[in-house]
Amino acid sequence: VRDSAVDALTRLVRDIPDFPEPGIVFKDITPLLADAAGFGAVVRALAATGRDDRGEVVVDKVVGMEARGFILAAPVALALGVGFAPVRKAGKLPHDTHQVDYALEYGEAVLELHRDAVAAGDRVLLVDDVLATGGTAGATCELVRRCGAEPAGFAVLMELGFLGGRSALGDVPVSSLLTV
Ligand code: PRP
Repeated sequence: VRDSAVDALTRLVRDIPDFPEPGIVFKDITPLLADAAGFGAVVRALAATGRDDRGEVVVDKVVGMEARGFILAAPVALALGVGFAPVRKAGKLPHDTHQVDYALEYGEAVLELHRDAVAAGDRVLLVDDVLATGGTAGATCELVRRCGAEPAGFAVLMELGFLGGRSALGDVPVSSLLTV
């Protein structure tokens, strides 16, 4: 499962230099999403992180981060047979939320999660496409904890190793399919 996912990532994610601004190399996953076999392979590999060695599902909810995280986290939740909850940028969620500030490359932003999106005691799997500085993932862990739930793991397609984003996750296990 993992090998075919890594192969798909290597073949179907393209680097876009100087997007969205000069000096940034953007990881464009749209060719991967457009390939049914590749998309399926990465979803199965991400979902495997929500199971134990015997294949039993060990998480109660999957959370995805706006916007590309949604595309991956929703099918992972269905594959595991658990519900999905969106973490969104400020002002998008309609009901009562928890809010956490996180650092951007320049400045700050706010992420939100509905207070009733995960239940106290839930084990929550976080899913996103890229781990860069870790700001998004770290803030999402904090949102889950504010609900009284536990971030049980973070599953991500690609980790930009040179940015050291893992440190933002503390002792939450990180599973990245590819480190670049
Ligand atoms: C990207 C990516 C991750 C985040 C990683 O999302 O999808 O969510 O950045 O970066 P970090 O580790 O430095 O926080 P982005 O904020 O560009 O949002 P988008 O998916 O809505 O474009």
